[in-house]
Amino acid sequence: MNVRFDPSGPLKGRLTPPADKSISHRAAIVGAMATEPVTITGYLAAEDTLSTLKAVQTIGALVQREGDRVTVRGTGLRAAEAHGETIDVGNAGTLMRLLPGWLAGQEGRSFTFDGDSSIRKRPVDRIAVPLRQMGAVIEATDDRLPPFTVHGQRLRGIRYELPVASAQVKSCVLLAGMIADGETTVVEPVASRDHTERLLSRLGVPLWRDGDAITVGHVDELTVEDIHVPADISSAAFPIAAGVLVKGSRLLLRDVGVNWTRAGFLDVLDRMGAIVVGERERRRDGEVPGHEPTADLDVAHGPLKGTVVEGDEVPLLIDELPLVALLGCFAEGETIVRGAEELKHKESDRIATVVDGLRGLGAEIEATDDGFVVQGTGGIRGGTIEAHGDHRLAMLGAVAGLASREGVEVIGMEAAEVSYPAFGDDIARLQRR
Ligand code: S3P
Repeated sequence: MNVRFDPSGPLKGRLTPPADKSISHRAAIVGAMATEPVTITGYLAAEDTLSTLKAVQTIGALVQREGDRVTVRGTGLRAAEAHGETIDVGNAGTLMRLLPGWLAGQEGRSFTFDGDSSIRKRPVDRIAVPLRQMGAVIEATDDRLPPFTVHGQRLRGIRYELPVASAQVKSCVLLAGMIADGETTVVEPVASRDHTERLLSRLGVPLWRDGDAITVGHVDELTVEDIHVPADISSAAFPIAAGVLVKGSRLLLRDVGVNWTRAGFLDVLDRMGAIVVGERERRRDGEVPGHEPTADLDVAHGPLKGTVVEGDEVPLLIDELPLVALLGCFAEGETIVRGAEELKHKESDRIATVVDGLRGLGAEIEATDDGFVVQGTGGIRGGTIEAHGDHRLAMLGAVAGLASREGVEVIGMEAAEVSYPAFGDDIARLQRR
């Protein structure tokens, strides 16, 4: 589906962005691990997280959905079984990397995972390595790609040092660690999103952090309280960027998750001089353990200056880096992202697709091995951009169009369904006010 986004008048009004995708995936998986039914409110109704509900049904959980309220009746920690059915993860990399952690400990049962053409290019060796060390048997295509099969075994606890910061791999090992013998420790090179740790500690799972090392203990049974999912900062980032870039805009985004391990985009916006005001409840200190802090964010159009994003900050806004590139086009001076090789392994190779895509719209942007360099020219011309089946690229093109001089046609806009099905409607609503 090709959709055109013309240069927009001011965006105005209030909006609750869609529910957090990362937390929704985790809530459904943890619900499936539980013995008693779990109610999840604010569950994300988008392609990726509907794939997770289907996946947990495939392995024996019962799911009831009424709007954004989902009840999962789990199998308990050790009774998941797929009866020879393939688990279809669709486009959901998080599902593909988290669920095998739990299933690797289902002794004597095997689980085959597959997904769409984009998922078939995304590596699973990064989870196979630690899971094999724990005792699981994993067969993957070319030893690193989907489709792949996990043969569940009795697992043993390990200490695993992540070679690159990845919340998906960390979460996979922690889920496996809950049913492994002994304790399991994951050491992260730098902090990545910690939704799994927050959720598990809130549910009483023995889990503690010592510096960069997170340890989880063995669990016999999981009791899960009801879970509420806040709005997704990675989805909110698109209307935020549109509000910052389109002249005269003023938006209020409600109930946005601002856990500091996710909210790096807000810090980068601050440095660029953008007007995005919210309660600073997202600071590291004074947070309630296990809690996911939220804030209402007030956004206004204003001038920007270039910045550098690198090092420990990268994982804190990994999914928002394409938007940093777009903001850089409008900023004064140079904007540089480095240390972000991981972008190559997302729903598309986001170094190549962002650089080619924005260059096609008139941006002065160069790819590097681990990021990109953007020269701010005060705006963007417009043109056509291909989404490459990547939801964040589709919405990047849309926001670029709203703020451009000539408008942007997005080829493959339907990709936005993966995380933000109401994106087009929300933007149209903000334009009508
Ligand atoms: C996610 C973690 C990130 C992110 C992805 C969702 C998660 O991936 O890019 O969109 O929910 O854990 P990595 O942790 O593998 O970098």
